Amino acid sequence: MTPPSATISALLACPRCDKTPMATQDNDLYCSGCKVKFPNFAGLPWLFAEPQASWAEWRARWQYALQQLKLSLDRINETLRSTDLYAATRTRLEHRVIAETAHSKDIEALLAPLGLRTDLSGISTYLALRTRLPPDQGLLTYYNNVHRDWCWGDKENAASLALVNDALAEHKPKRMLVLGAGAGRLTYDLHQYHTPDMSIGFDFNPLLVGIAARVSTGERITMREFPIAPKTASDYGIERVLQAPEPANDQLHWMIGDIHRLPFATQQFDTIVTPWLIDIVPEELGSFASRINQLLTDDGCWINFGSLSFHNTHPAAQYSQEECAAIVDASGFLPPHIATRSIPYMDSPSSRHARTEEVIAWAAHKDAHIKRTTRYEALPDWLVRGQSPVPLTQGVRTQTTTTQVHAFLLSLIDGKRSLQDIAKIAAAKQLVPAHEAEATIRNFLIKMADEGRRLGY
Ligand SMILES: C[S@@+](CC[C@H](N)C(=O)[O-])C[C@H]1O[C@@H](n2cnc3c(N)ncnc32)[C@H](O)[C@@H]1O
Repeated sequence: MTPPSATISALLACPRCDKTPMATQDNDLYCSGCKVKFPNFAGLPWLFAEPQASWAEWRARWQYALQQLKLSLDRINETLRSTDLYAATRTRLEHRVIAETAHSKDIEALLAPLGLRTDLSGISTYLALRTRLPPDQGLLTYYNNVHRDWCWGDKENAASLALVNDALAEHKPKRMLVLGAGAGRLTYDLHQYHTPDMSIGFDFNPLLVGIAARVSTGERITMREFPIAPKTASDYGIERVLQAPEPANDQLHWMIGDIHRLPFATQQFDTIVTPWLIDIVPEELGSFASRINQLLTDDGCWINFGSLSFHNTHPAAQYSQEECAAIVDASGFLPPHIATRSIPYMDSPSSRHARTEEVIAWAAHKDAHIKRTTRYEALPDWLVRGQSPVPLTQGVRTQTTTTQVHAFLLSLIDGKRSLQDIAKIAAAKQLVPAHEAEATIRNFLIKMADEGRRLGY
């Protein structure tokens, strides 16, 4: 395993204190200010602000993914023990057992070099730094992108590259950073096309970065694809060979870390690309745009590509295209020109499901340097320090009442009472109007049964 080169180390700043340059120590990176080591796994620098705790958390997600796969296999094997299955159903289920078993093994093998182990010792500092992996981002969240990127997605990948190249126009990347690089194809394609002095693909998902790093250097990897709507039984868990058209040179680098605590010194890149990213991150767009501004050189350019489908719960952060342009303009960039184009999206040959998406691309050229930005804090003080009162919000009040009602209704289930008996008691306690009681309790019990089925009880 080789340590990060001097050129790479020179670009970095500690993601914890945001200022100390990083030194190389053995094979790892080291911040002398924080006295923290950032490990290097199989050539991939692990650059989270709290490396130990993020490592433990990704390991927990990996365990969770494996447990889900095991649960699924147990249920299929149990079903296969039944004698009254159609022959075609038996064949399909037997195929699933083979595919899902292979899938678990493939993922285990890919993650093994990362040595993810259980050690939760750093969890309190992890919280104190207000960093936290978003709960909705699992190890396999964007897994199917891997197959589009490195197997069947030539048309989609070419359409994405063409749109980004149109946005780049005369701008020629020399030092490029791709944030949220995922399985890495666009990063690779841009690197091959523009031959910059250096490119970095950056993402927090170790599985995706691990695949990108191996495939882009010429390795062939076999993995299973699980399309949303398989065309035939054998399209489920179909074996795919992932490979790049040709190996990239050694100026293409991959790193694992969180975009909310970026490990880079200011003004290091002339090109930053954010593909399919800005509308899924929880941070407010203005702060994110300011941070991108700080990382760019004075003649730098920010390319944003993908959808603008903001689902933030705060109404002010559900930005339209016009608001995005205004925010970028106010964050030290010239007003961006936004181009739109329809491109195919996830059109797997094994799936009946695909879509055409109207995506956007903008090139925002830096015109002023933003000096200060606030750091994104994933958690409030009362959760991190635990000393100030837990706020009694309207949401908590509503949840309290709902939980009490649920607990009461569940306590009425004793294996003897019928749905009608429970409805009568709920009406007598004035939890529901008498004329709606039976229908309401039926809905409640249906949801409970559905949830039980979903969890495999
Ligand atoms: C919608 S996917 C797009 C992936 C890739 N750019 C593509 O076009 O296929 C979003 C990517 O952002 C990454 N991501 C989300 N939040 C992140 C964060 N806080 N730090 C680093 N990466 C993040 C996810 O792991 C995922 O790979």
